[in-house]
Amino acid sequence: MSIMLDSANPEDARRARELGFVEDVTTNPTLIAKTGRPPLELLSELVEIVPGHVFYQLTAPSVEARYDQAWEAHEIRPDKVILKIPATTENIAMAARLEQHGIECAITAIASPAQAYLAAQAEAAYAIPYVNRLTRTYGDGLAVVRQIAAILQGTETEILAASLKSVEEVVGAILAGAQHVTLPLELILALGEHEFSRRAIADFDASMHSAKP
Ligand code: G3P
Repeated sequence: MSIMLDSANPEDARRARELGFVEDVTTNPTLIAKTGRPPLELLSELVEIVPGHVFYQLTAPSVEARYDQAWEAHEIRPDKVILKIPATTENIAMAARLEQHGIECAITAIASPAQAYLAAQAEAAYAIPYVNRLTRTYGDGLAVVRQIAAILQGTETEILAASLKSVEEVVGAILAGAQHVTLPLELILALGEHEFSRRAIADFDASMHSAKP
């Protein structure tokens, strides 16, 4: 069970690493574009910052070009790069080819239990459902995660819940059966905060200061 950072920003990656409980980073083309940096240069930097894996999404226009792109990214750091491959049947078939070569793949932008089922057939390491986007589009992203969890039970494919926008949604995804979550830095930092705990800390401080020696 791990919390990953959803960002392509090296500074976010450094801050997340310093927390001591975040080891992996998931990027996507939008997050990479925000940095204004060449994608592979950024990937090379991120693998040096975090102790765990860096997820890198394939974007080339054809399956064969994406297959070549997969090898190019993999060779940057074979033990640390995990390829994110958007869920389509032809892409999942490509993931199966890559997995046969021992290259770890994550099927991303998953919207249905059927896609997760195929990801498991391809022996992908991860299935990535987009929880909040699904809720916004169809009404209940957490229900999709629950169905995926039931389908993937007993397989090697683990659920990495993405597109999570609140603490409640993160907890909901884990309760629905996600083994991993990926979150922007602010949401990771928000997980450990609660008004009740802050008040308790303030009460203890006040009683300590008012205690007679
Ligand atoms: O990086 C994958 C996912 O978290 C992106 O979803 O909704 O935050 O754009 P969203």
